[in-house]
Amino acid sequence: MPDERYQNTPTVVTTDISQAARALRQGRLVAFPTETVYGLGANAWDADAVARVFAVKQRPFFDPLIVHLGDFGLLPQIVRDVPPLAQRLIKAFWPGPLTLVLPKQPRVPDLVTSGLPTVAVRMPSAPLARRLLRMAAVPVAAPSANLFGRVSPTDAEAVVEQLAGRIPLVLDGGVCSVGVESTVVQPTANGVLLLRPGGVPTEAIEGLGIPVHHAPHTPTETADAPVERAPSPGMLPRHYAPRTPLKFFERPQDVPAELLTGPVGWLALGPPPAEWADRFVHVETLSPEGSDVEAARNLFAALRRLDAGPARRIIAIAVPNTGLGRAINDRLRRAATST
Ligand code: TXA
Ligand code: MG
Repeated sequence: MPDERYQNTPTVVTTDISQAARALRQGRLVAFPTETVYGLGANAWDADAVARVFAVKQRPFFDPLIVHLGDFGLLPQIVRDVPPLAQRLIKAFWPGPLTLVLPKQPRVPDLVTSGLPTVAVRMPSAPLARRLLRMAAVPVAAPSANLFGRVSPTDAEAVVEQLAGRIPLVLDGGVCSVGVESTVVQPTANGVLLLRPGGVPTEAIEGLGIPVHHAPHTPTETADAPVERAPSPGMLPRHYAPRTPLKFFERPQDVPAELLTGPVGWLALGPPPAEWADRFVHVETLSPEGSDVEAARNLFAALRRLDAGPARRIIAIAVPNTGLGRAINDRLRRAATST
């Protein structure tokens, strides 16, 4: 559903926060850096601006947005109730890469929440995002600033690559420090439901004595039909994908030999096994020293470089499923093609 109306907007890249804040308040779209990835922001009170976010991204209206806050004062205008468990999470992780799904105030446009009775909220920790949100003084609805289904941008250049000509303004704040999207949780009677692993490791939540329940996977569902039944509309099985076909394996020894022919790229924590040293035309290592934090920071840029390089197929190997590794494996699994 490409929308021709959004292909002729000159895109300006700026470091001027007050210009960006003014634009947001006036209902224009602004891509801005958070600690996770760049967001495509719209004044959340302005349903027309929010509608343009969906059009620009070619995102289906059934996939709701996260509302970003610069300070706590706005929270009661967005959510009806902050249960004690959510208060504990906010105290521990805000500002930071944790998104909470809570009952929405009627005033929040239905477009933001795709008609759900709940709204996703977070307070980013990146200093530039905080200053922008405070200066704009409105809640900002923002998905990641990529085209729907594509790799999330972690620097201003990657935003421009995907959205140039479709949005008026990109606030350039350099490279995102976390590199994967926020963790999305919904408080339940006895813990939280994990809707998306992300920048806050589940271990950190469990460390507070809060049980983390894992939402069931919906592997047989396709991007065309599934979402009404998924616990979070964003749990589409295929997402975050490069255009080059990607195959995801738990271990190098699981890779079938027939996939190692032709121009193949490698993506893992470290380099390929010695006996495969010459098989790959493009090698991306996320963190040879094995740091989940470093690996998360490198993930999306590595995927974009592989996409732009000579490889016609990408072999990706899982990282240890702890800390930010859970979010990395989740994104790689969704980036994978099944055929
Ligand atoms: O780190 C991030 O979260 C970035 C930056 C820009 O803040 N944003 C981001 O937004 O990743 P987006 O739109 O790409 O992902 C939002 C996720 C989706 O999986 C969506 O389905 C889920 O949050 N979500 C939003 N509102 C929801 C709700 N009311 N109930 C359940 N899931 C919700
Ligand atoms: Mg996204």
